[in-house]
Order: sequence, then C-alpha cells, then structure tokens
Amino acid sequence: MAEDQAAAGGSAASAADGPASESSSHRDVTILFVGDVVGGIGRRTLLECLTVLRERHAPTFVVVNGENAAGGLGITPKIAEEMFANGVDAITLGNHTYHRREIYPYLDSEKPIVRPANFLRNQPGRGVCVVEHGGVHLGVVNLSGNLYVRAGRSAFTEIEVALGELKDVDHILVDVHAEATSEKVAMGWHLDGRVTAVVGTHTHVPTADGRVLPGGTAYITDVGMTGPRGGVIGVKREQAIESLLTQMPVRFETSEDDPWLMGVLIKCSQPMRADSIEQVLMPRPAQDPRGR
Ligand code: FE2
Repeated sequence: MAEDQAAAGGSAASAADGPASESSSHRDVTILFVGDVVGGIGRRTLLECLTVLRERHAPTFVVVNGENAAGGLGITPKIAEEMFANGVDAITLGNHTYHRREIYPYLDSEKPIVRPANFLRNQPGRGVCVVEHGGVHLGVVNLSGNLYVRAGRSAFTEIEVALGELKDVDHILVDVHAEATSEKVAMGWHLDGRVTAVVGTHTHVPTADGRVLPGGTAYITDVGMTGPRGGVIGVKREQAIESLLTQMPVRFETSEDDPWLMGVLIKCSQPMRADSIEQVLMPRPAQDPRGR
C-alpha cells in the first residue's frame, strides 16, 4: 500500500434524499477522527502528523481516541491537556478509561473528553460532549461494545439517551469502541441517517469498509491506531510472541517500531450527513536519526 495516502475514497452518498434538515447557515465541514493513540510514540506521531494534516486538509474538527495514550493504557490530565493545546477538539475513550486514577476528576470537569455513554451512571465522566467552531456545533458520543469488553449497559439502548442530549447540533460523530465487528456494523446501520458518522475503534487494525451508508452516515468498522505498526497492536512484537508461545505472563512494553497515524477524514456539506469518508494512513514524518 502506498505510503501517506488518503486511501479508500468513500463512496459519496446522494445528497438528494435523506433525513437531514436544510440550514442556510450551514457550511462545509471536515472532521478528522484519529484512531487510538498508543503511548508516547503515538502522541509524538499524532502531533507531528497533525501539523501536516492541518496544512493538507484544514479540518474543521479534530477528534482523537486517547484511551491508550498513557503508556498504552489510559490517559492522564496532562496528556489530555497537551492534546487540547495542540488543537484536538475532543477526546474519546474506551475500555481503558479508568486505568489512571488521576483522570477521574478530570472526566467530571467541563473538558471535551468523553468515556463510553453506556458505562454505569455512577462511573466518572460522561458520554456526550459538544464542541463548536465558527458557529458549527459537533456532538461527540462515545460508546463501548458489550461483547468481550466491559460496559454496564447496552450500547443500543443508551445511544438513544445520548442522542436525546444532542438536539441542537449540526453534526454528530459516534465512536464505537468495541472488539466485535458485528456490534460495530450493526450500530452503523442502526444510526444510519441519524448521525453524521459512526467510527469504530479498539482493535488497532484498520478495516477496508469505509463508506457512506445509504441514509448519509459515514461508517467504518475500525479506523486503526496511531502507534507502532512494527508491534502487535501496540506491544513489542517479541513480547507478544513470547506470551503466545509460552502461555506464561510477560511484561508488555509499547513498541516504538514504525509509527503511523491512522484515522479518517469525513467531509460534509449538509447537516447531519456525510458526503465522503476517506482513510488516512500516514507514517510519522521523517525524524532526525539522533532524536526521537
Ligand atoms: Fe480499547
């Protein structure tokens, strides 16, 4: 596959029919969604690639899944602040949300960082936030799958509550953080025509099914990760292989081999629907061999 490409140009859905209401004040919007940032190498890759992607695509909004940003597990307030300071508009999370205790009060603040909406209500944080640029309001929803990952409530019932909190926004992006492809595919169809985009995260492996569904919702089962392709979904490959070979406990460390940013660009010209979705698969820009 060619490097630094916007691959898999999404099919453009017809703008002639669909559920979205017209708005004379609406303008073209581009949403850059970036997949799971893994550790320090992922954070550095994110920031360096963002500089390039901003020049190239001028995204209106940048949303990043940050649930692996702190050493591969969880996120800290300091890391979240660094992302926001570098132009990230909102951060989504997932099954490692609560790995770092220091993030708990931060999740209850007004910062645009969301954990899965279908976690229990008494768990820290919230599942919905709204960010704004130039009068355009983007609602961001985080969901967790229910198969093979822990979430106290059903994603399929709680999404209705989440959407009910987002009555007055121009666009809605839903990050479904899930292991099972079936849950993510089903959620895409369930929300088709009701939100701008449903993007999958968690597996760290990008899928080739990005497209605009018939109702106008951009969909992809998994956008992949922002981290080391030379590892095993973020872990040093030697350690992952040793664990599988020996079936004994092995201490995992984050690989730093061959870091890439993986995400999607979603372009919109009408409220609550997408014109296209394109994968972004981009290696970290070339480095000074003496530096990191
Ligand atoms: Fe995850």
